[in-house]
Amino acid sequence: MNGRGARSSTNPAALKSLWLNRRTSREALDQSGVWRFRELLPHIPNPEEHVITLREGNTPLYRLPRCSRAVGVENLQAKHQGMNPTASFKDTGMTVAASSAHQGKFRWVACASTGNTSASMAAYAARGNMCSMVLIPDGKISWGKLSQSLDYGALTCQLRTDFDGCVRILNELVRQKPVYLLNSVNPYRIEGQKTAAIELMEQLAWEPPDHIIVPGGNLGNSSAIGKALLEMRELKLISRLPKLSIIQAHGANPFYRSVREFGGKKLEPMTADTLATAIRIGNPASWKKALRVLQATGGEVEEVTEVEIAAAKAEIGADGIGCEPASAVTLAGLKKLRRKGFVKSGESVVLILTGHLLKDPDFTIKFHRGDLFAGTVVAGTPDAAEAAQAKSLQRAPIVLDANLGAVIAALDAADRNS
Ligand code: F0G
Repeated sequence: MNGRGARSSTNPAALKSLWLNRRTSREALDQSGVWRFRELLPHIPNPEEHVITLREGNTPLYRLPRCSRAVGVENLQAKHQGMNPTASFKDTGMTVAASSAHQGKFRWVACASTGNTSASMAAYAARGNMCSMVLIPDGKISWGKLSQSLDYGALTCQLRTDFDGCVRILNELVRQKPVYLLNSVNPYRIEGQKTAAIELMEQLAWEPPDHIIVPGGNLGNSSAIGKALLEMRELKLISRLPKLSIIQAHGANPFYRSVREFGGKKLEPMTADTLATAIRIGNPASWKKALRVLQATGGEVEEVTEVEIAAAKAEIGADGIGCEPASAVTLAGLKKLRRKGFVKSGESVVLILTGHLLKDPDFTIKFHRGDLFAGTVVAGTPDAAEAAQAKSLQRAPIVLDANLGAVIAALDAADRNS
């Protein structure tokens, strides 16, 4: 599903300079880090009327010096998709899919979500003057995300089930009511999410890294990034493919198991459980597409434990970047891929951080207070060893009397230990 522009101008050098020049434009469409690449997106007629944009995309690519040393990869960077308008990567796909709903004159849009899709959808629906309905698992999404969908005016329903149960009900709903479905099975979402990879290549002067690492939940994002890579190679915008690897939480690892146990021939749905609630998904919709991406790029699939996720999140935080737990599986997964020799020290790696640190402050505070795994990690297990190691990353707040002496003593103690 390429935009018509790509066909009329397939000269890669011309496309690259067109996209770069748009960065200086005053037009909303050009200022969006998604619509800037509209030659590779579906065409929306009358864009001035129908395109809903919050100037999404244009996200930074950061070096991670501490993580880099800890993992033993010299060239390690993170593309922070949490720096989007609603603080997750979902905005890049939502601007395209919500615009398509607007063009189709839908009054209602809806999604099932672990929290980020719903926050994004609610914002874009509000901007486009559409009504939105959110189905989320009761009690299993972070407050930050829930608060967003409330503030953006969505009809927010907390269903007594998990994400997969919400999807089942949503699929029934759209069969019976004229409601536009905005989950990532919507092809417009995937098209918009491709732009993260296009923008990344532009930031790297069109010199692909050796590895890109993404979290895997419903597997829409890995499919989108993979699709973008293949299209860019086809259009000769890049000359080779990075390996795209997908990381899942151990408690929500149906894709990992599909690849490792069944050679990708089938996927057994599971009841998922992880503190990285964004990827608490047991029956991923886009697993076949993600499998094709793994095969086409030669990437790997890996799983990581809860403790590994929490430690990796704090390490990314210590580099002054921060992200939500689901994003941190990328660094945790990279450590494993390094240990297995799949990623070599001289290779270049880009982690895709999918959500902002402030999406889930509860997780972060519990980790730093030492409460996150209280009573759940069994002594003598590898988890306990990891948890003990992660302690060095914990920075619990300290309560002091309001006097200068106590504050100076705290400063001196911290200075001695740093
Ligand atoms: N990271 C974050 C922060 C997410 O919110 C999600 C998915 C993923 C990673 C996984 O991406 O599903 O494309 O493989 N969140 C969805 C939601 C399911 O409803 O917000 P995926």
